[in-house]
Amino acid sequence: MLINLLRLLPPETAHTLTIKLLRSNISLNSKHKQLFKSLKQKILGINFKNPIGLAAGFDKNAEVMSQMFSYGFGFVEIGTVTPKIQLGNEKPRIFRLIEDEAIINHLGFNNEGSEKVLSNIKSFYKNKDINEIIGVNIGKNKSTQSDIDDYLYCVEKLGMYSDYITINISSPNTPGLRDLQLRGRIELLVKKIQAKQSEIEGLIKKPIFIKISPDLNDEQLRDIALMSLANNVNGLIISNSTTKRPDTLISSYKNELGGLSGKPIFLNSTILLKKMYSLTNGQITLIGVGGVSSGHECYEKIKAGASLVQLYTALVYQGPKIINKILKELDTLILIDGYKNVSEAIGKSS
Ligand SMILES: Cc1cc2nc3c(=O)[nH]c(=O)nc-3n(C[C@H](O)[C@H](O)[C@H](O)COP(=O)(O)O)c2cc1C
Repeated sequence: MLINLLRLLPPETAHTLTIKLLRSNISLNSKHKQLFKSLKQKILGINFKNPIGLAAGFDKNAEVMSQMFSYGFGFVEIGTVTPKIQLGNEKPRIFRLIEDEAIINHLGFNNEGSEKVLSNIKSFYKNKDINEIIGVNIGKNKSTQSDIDDYLYCVEKLGMYSDYITINISSPNTPGLRDLQLRGRIELLVKKIQAKQSEIEGLIKKPIFIKISPDLNDEQLRDIALMSLANNVNGLIISNSTTKRPDTLISSYKNELGGLSGKPIFLNSTILLKKMYSLTNGQITLIGVGGVSSGHECYEKIKAGASLVQLYTALVYQGPKIINKILKELDTLILIDGYKNVSEAIGKSS
């Protein structure tokens, strides 16, 4: 199988080849599509055909959105996009921790920059189906003089061509980025972005999500919850990859630099999600991400408070067939619990 062949290549080569193959094979199409009435939801004014999305980092340059929808994803988050093109850190910078079903990366926001990504998104929008929900995840260039200006620039440039915008302040591989999560700094960023939104007609109604780190302590989590409630932040994405290394890791790559993703981060990112749901009294839309590779884990995130769920690492280990498998399992789990729709299960864990 292709997925096994790709695993014989170094991780970044495999990823680049995957994107190339996907780009040249749009006819992978609809055979994977399946619709589940129980999984449809309207959230922040957007109709999601199902709650499973592709997390940021896979399609950084908005090249394979149609193909990812053909695999069954309900929404696709592209990026992280920075204002200017950026090469990222030195290679090798992605490591497969096969025994742990995990990945460590220190890519450092390699992307083709907002101009090129805008042109890719515009091409996609020519044939965009109304059910194809796009999130644009934005960040700052490593060498920028003003981080806030970088976010404002990307909001203005790319925001119109998105269903929602994600402010990424939690990737561990850009120096200083995660400091934007600190009290005061995050509030200033949010206020400036909201001010920019209100200046531009087409941006006013675009929901803004903030993507946070799983490494925040309880006090920082509470600060972000209070700030989000006070400033009417639309949503939070919980979480990005972690710089922590659980004792359970066995792969010889476990001490590589960067963010750890996949199975080993499921528990912590879900605990954090649950805490945030409780701190915000269920009043803010949460997207749960981190270590999801089954319908059961997806359901755990939803019961912990997520309205939507994303994944990336599981796609590397299990290939795209995982999406329909998760959707079917989730549909069954919801019905077993006596719910008619997934929205009824949000935040229902004991
Ligand atoms: C190779 C790789 C690159 C990533 N790049 C980004 C990125 O550019 N922006 C971002 O917000 N998250 C990025 N992420 C983090 C994922 O979006 C996600 O938050 C994290 O991997 C946890 O989900 P998972 O366990 O399902 O992979 C990346 C993850 C991986 C594995």
